[in-house]
Parts: sequence; structure tokens; C-alpha cells
Amino acid sequence: MTEQHNGPGLFITLEGGDGSGKSTQAALLEQWLIDLGRTVVRTREPGGTDAGVEIREIVLHHRGDISPRAEALLYAADRAHHVATLVRPALARGEVVLQDRYLDSSVAYQGAGRVLDADEIRRLSLWAAEGLLPDLTILLDLDETSARARLDTSRTRYDRLEAEKSEFHARVRAAYLDLAAAEPERFLVVDASRPVEEIAADIRQRLAPRL
Ligand code: TYD
Repeated sequence: MTEQHNGPGLFITLEGGDGSGKSTQAALLEQWLIDLGRTVVRTREPGGTDAGVEIREIVLHHRGDISPRAEALLYAADRAHHVATLVRPALARGEVVLQDRYLDSSVAYQGAGRVLDADEIRRLSLWAAEGLLPDLTILLDLDETSARARLDTSRTRYDRLEAEKSEFHARVRAAYLDLAAAEPERFLVVDASRPVEEIAADIRQRLAPRL
């Protein structure tokens, strides 16, 4: 599949395990970009659109079983609609799209976590998104035990993915690191066990030349 150019905007995604601190870094980065005068669209998957909110509810909170392929297709459906109706139009207007999770989440969680074929999951996502890839992907890397400890302090209940056992999350983390190693140009890997401000400074330094 040919990958399409992102237009005049800048597409930044944040990735990492549950509890790795993505939301904190997204908020700091958003404020920094706004201070620089950029128009920022902050969004997320799953659930960045009205239809996506309904898909998110099913995929994260459905009480019964959801088969792995059905789960992969639900994330892909959310992505297809989100990219077509929100992400691409914002990039075409020259805006910065700052997005919590994208196709690397599917490759890590449905590919490695659910043990589906990683290449097929990537192709499914690229089909859904008509080839759109981020300009920069920030991977917040944190060991499983620390991530779980952080989640425990911020959650009253776990969603379907968070509730998976530690081997699942260890596979997800390893898959993310493999993805980053395979595409060093696109990825910035940050050690998420460090203080929040240090991490934010690393991210700003990497982004500055592209703004
Ligand atoms: P997230 O919004 O980060 O959760 P929270 O709001 O609780 O911080 O992500 C929801 C979950 O969905 C997370 O466990 C990862 C999972 N996920 C996938 O398994 N595949 C995907 O393609 C995406 C986008 C998310």
C-alpha cells in the first residue's frame, strides 16, 4: 500500500502501555505547542468521534467475550472513521494533531497481546486509515510493574485491556520497542520512569526542528 503524505499539518501520536503517563505528557505538549502559536487538535483512539465513543464503550467495557479478530476490527473501524472525519481534515488545514494512541497500539495490543499476525494488523490499520502514518510517534516506555502501580493509584476499575495479565502487558511493551527499533526516524522512545518535566523536555527538543 502506498502511504499518503500528511498534508501541511503535523501528526504526532503518543503510545505506551496503560499507566505509562501519556495523558500527562499530552497535556504538557499541547500547552507548549499552543504557546508557540500552533493550532492543536488533541484527540484519541478509541473514541475520538461520536461514533468512536460508542465503539470505545463496546471494545473497552462490553461484559461478555469479544473474539480477538472482532476486537481488531472494532479498533480499525474506530480508526477509519476518526481519520476520515477528524484527523485528515485537521492536517489539511495545517493544524497539529496530537493523538493519544494510533495504529501502533493495534500492532502491540492486538498483534502481540492477542497474538494475531502483526503484519496483518498493520495492513488492516493502514487500509482503515488509507495509509496515514504519523510524522512523529512518542513511545513512553515503562516496565510493567511500575505501570501497574501507577494504574492502581488512578483507577477504581480496569477496562478489558487493562485487566489482562502481566504477560500480556509484557508482550505489548516488547512489541512497542520492536516497532520503535524498526522505524527510528518516526519514533522517539523516552524512559517514562523519569520525572515528568525531564520527559517533556526530551519531547520538546525532538519536536523543535519540525515546527
Ligand atoms: P486508553 O484510551 O489509553 O485508556 P485510558 O483512557 O484508560 O487511559 O486506551 C484504551 C485501551 O485500548 C488501552 O488499554 C489500549 C487499547 N487499545 C488497543 O488494544 N488497540 C488499539 O488499537 C487502541 C487504539 C487501543
